[in-house]
Amino acid sequence: MTVKISHTQDVQNLFREACGLNNEQGSPRLKQLMLRIVGDVAKIIEDLQVTDDEFWQAVDYLNRLGARGEFGLLVPGLGLEHFLDLLQDAKDAEAGLSGGTPRTIEGPLYVAGAPLAEGQVRMDDGSEDGVATVMFLEGVVRDTQGKPVAGAVVDLWHANTKGNYSYFDKSQSDYNLRRRIVTDTEGRYRARSIVPSGYGCDPQGPTQECLDLLGRHGQRPAHIHFFISAPGHRHLTTQINLAGDQYLWDDFAYATREGLVGDIQFVEDEAAARDRGISAKRFAELTFDFQLQKAPQAKAERRSARPRALQQA
Ligand SMILES: [Fe+2]
Repeated sequence: MTVKISHTQDVQNLFREACGLNNEQGSPRLKQLMLRIVGDVAKIIEDLQVTDDEFWQAVDYLNRLGARGEFGLLVPGLGLEHFLDLLQDAKDAEAGLSGGTPRTIEGPLYVAGAPLAEGQVRMDDGSEDGVATVMFLEGVVRDTQGKPVAGAVVDLWHANTKGNYSYFDKSQSDYNLRRRIVTDTEGRYRARSIVPSGYGCDPQGPTQECLDLLGRHGQRPAHIHFFISAPGHRHLTTQINLAGDQYLWDDFAYATREGLVGDIQFVEDEAAARDRGISAKRFAELTFDFQLQKAPQAKAERRSARPRALQQA
């Protein structure tokens, strides 16, 4: 028979004391959350008869996960970041907010403060010239009425051909493949970059260790991340996931959504390439337009206050 004590007054008192409910200092909100978490952990231990060995292995795992900075990777891997999107979608539906480009997960690899450009920019530093396929990316930011939004900031970031992101991959130059582009008077943004590769979790890392035990891979399709913001419009966090990638609908992070598949076209035309100013005869084109909802209130214009990396000068 399962022995349970977490409901007893003694244990409830212990948890209330441990979570600061018996003092006037600290954060009431954190106390509320912590009491629920501690109580639920205790219930899980009882209900699933978690052994001491399992419990301490889990503590060790969380230590290793944090030490490697992979909490932000496990969260989408377990579907929780996608769940937050689904929950926000449901709240929007309840509030009558609809239309616009779908949101999807941010992921853990954004770096704030990328160089700002007007209308168009080259995003890569040329270090993969001859290796990477040049990609011409462009599109228009509109409102839900179809009117172009001039002066929107398109803040985009993506991986290199090895599936690595600058800042986190110290072999790349600062802000390589990261830019902010201000849309022109027609709401247009244009970027010359390189076709990104998909990537997988570090096979030696704690996220993949967990996924292995869940019988899952840790691969993502090639994709490009976006934050799009403009005064009067709702901040959009989203991604374009590239058509043709074997992991497009088998994404370990559940980021691919209907309406967010980028129909990348590969062009083999030497003359066209020359016109575009590149020496390789093969290049790629990707057109993707975005639609922003009207901001229901001023704070909806801004992204969440999630702590993010900031490049040190
Ligand atoms: Fe990514």
